[in-house]
Amino acid sequence: MRYLDIDTAKKVSKIGLGTWQFGSREWGYGDAYAGSEAKAIVRRALELGITLFDTAEIYGFGRSERILGEALGDDLGSIFLATKILPVMPIAPVVEQRGVASAARLGARHIDLYQVHQPNPAVRDGTIMRGMRALQRTGLVGEVGVSNYSLRRWIAAEDALGSRVLSNQVKYSLAWRQPERDLVPYAQAHGRVIIAYSPLAQGLLSGRYDKDNRPANSVRAGNSMFLPENLDRAAGLITSLREVADAHSATPAQIALAWLVRNPVVVAIPGASSVAQVESNAAAADIDLTDEEYRALTEAADGFQPVTGLAAAPRLARVRVRARARTRKKR
Ligand SMILES: NC(=O)c1ccc[n+]([C@@H]2O[C@H](COP(=O)([O-])OP(=O)(O)OC[C@H]3O[C@@H](n4cnc5c(N)ncnc54)[C@H](OP(=O)(O)O)[C@@H]3O)[C@@H](O)[C@H]2O)c1
Repeated sequence: MRYLDIDTAKKVSKIGLGTWQFGSREWGYGDAYAGSEAKAIVRRALELGITLFDTAEIYGFGRSERILGEALGDDLGSIFLATKILPVMPIAPVVEQRGVASAARLGARHIDLYQVHQPNPAVRDGTIMRGMRALQRTGLVGEVGVSNYSLRRWIAAEDALGSRVLSNQVKYSLAWRQPERDLVPYAQAHGRVIIAYSPLAQGLLSGRYDKDNRPANSVRAGNSMFLPENLDRAAGLITSLREVADAHSATPAQIALAWLVRNPVVVAIPGASSVAQVESNAAAADIDLTDEEYRALTEAADGFQPVTGLAAAPRLARVRVRARARTRKKR
């Protein structure tokens, strides 16, 4: 495992573990996963040197925090624990209560990184950061982070907090490179961190899926990346990942992660549906891509132009209608 080179109280692994999957209906991994596999994934992650564990109060409506806290047990104090507040009514006393509630569900005395899950469009960050400052003063919270923030808002959040907002957790992968426009350069220039979520584009970059084999759960049914058209468009990128993977006796998913974390300020938090996946993801931290491989992957990513946003909405609706019709026919 490799770790971030930054002045945090505890070391932060370049590959972390995302835990939205734990106990969340929308991932559809079921009770056996929530009841035992998730715990085994956490224990194996610890053995492999992963220290960054990311959860949120909203994942499984608190179940993810509970599962993660139980699985970590006595190791809670030695890892870098990150959770998030959904900023509904983000006035300072509410922020404080919600931080305390997250810590209670986790069974933790300290949250290393408390993140604002997304910007509240109606309320500026002054109110929420007052609550964050209070939580830092009591010692419950170490670092403050944000998620899904624009650069302008990240800087405004820092001004409001009066100290560093360590990280911005954003969607970032070979399939989605918007953070490179301004967030990654800002982090590089100011000693901040980009936490890449959906670093495997929710499994797309594993190369396991194509238009005849699309993942079934509701998260990915609503993700335009898995539209048949986009799966076709991703073929060139997947081929490039496979070529580099072959040279390293690795998998496309590992190469996708290695490409991301090659940047010193970027860490990735892939989710995992099995122990084998967390093992594979952790090992990706130690893969060194050559400059040529890095360039080839970046160029292949430049060539991937998925249909997204408003243009994708009618197509997603059509795909859902067809899937429903197929299910009715089967019944
Ligand atoms: N801040 C935010 O707004 C936000 C939003 C989304 C996610 N997140 C965080 O980021 C984490 C990761 O993002 P994500 O779960 O959306 O996407 P992801 O990490 O890109 O994809 C996770 C999925 O990819 C597949 N996978 C994982 N490792 C693999 C491997 N080695 N080989 C092949 N397939 C593999 C698994 O699905 P299958 O095996 O079923 O294919 C797994 O559930 C979440 O758990 C959450 O903590 C944050």
